[in-house]
Amino acid sequence: MSDEISYARVKSQVVEAEAYSRRNQRRHQHEMTMIANAMKMTDNVKTVLDAPCGVGRASIWFAQQGLDVTAIDLGEAALALAAKLAAKAEVQIRFESQDLFSLPYKARAYDATLCFRLLHHFESPALRSRLIGEICRVSDRYVLISRMTPISITSIRRRLRYLLTGKPIKQYPVSARELTEDMRQHGFEPVGQTGGMALLSSLQLQVYSRK
Ligand SMILES: C[S@@+](CC[C@H](N)C(=O)[O-])C[C@H]1O[C@@H](n2cnc3c(N)ncnc32)[C@H](O)[C@@H]1O
Repeated sequence: MSDEISYARVKSQVVEAEAYSRRNQRRHQHEMTMIANAMKMTDNVKTVLDAPCGVGRASIWFAQQGLDVTAIDLGEAALALAAKLAAKAEVQIRFESQDLFSLPYKARAYDATLCFRLLHHFESPALRSRLIGEICRVSDRYVLISRMTPISITSIRRRLRYLLTGKPIKQYPVSARELTEDMRQHGFEPVGQTGGMALLSSLQLQVYSRK
């Protein structure tokens, strides 16, 4: 396992970005509901960092809720499509090409940061911790961060398949306990979780607030 940052999942290609914007609608709706429910656990958030923003689905929703949104990603194609979709939705969003592992923002620059569907791409706990540290640094009061749970049927099936066939696992689960330990090291306490029953729903969204 390497502690080197991998950029293999960066959506630089137009086809990847467009495919992401045409994801399964039911799953997309479920994920947007998770984000909306997680935001209900926060209070008086005015500025939000959507990192990574992908093709901007959460950024657009945040802007529609009246929030001041900064949206970052390293994928050029994803950012370009996100800007197009934001213009179509007639919302103002600051899109920037930034690396989540080294953000240029000052400490506690945003009321809240959403980091949705990224953490599970990193196998190395040291790398995950680095990512979490950077997100916490720029967040004044809340961090909303998704993880894959190790106890879902899908995660268990992936582990079994790996044991039986050697097919590599590309999504690395983290328990709520492990994530919370990491978040505590960076000054954040758990507030709640959305995503439904862990056994059936691999993706969970954790909400943390600054101690
Ligand atoms: C699975 S997508 C999720 C996007 C968005 N949060 C959503 O749920 O629609 C992951 C995104 O992370 C971006 N990404 C990967 N590594 C990154 C990094 N180091 N810094 C910024 N963006 C990164 C990719 O380009 C991709 O758009």
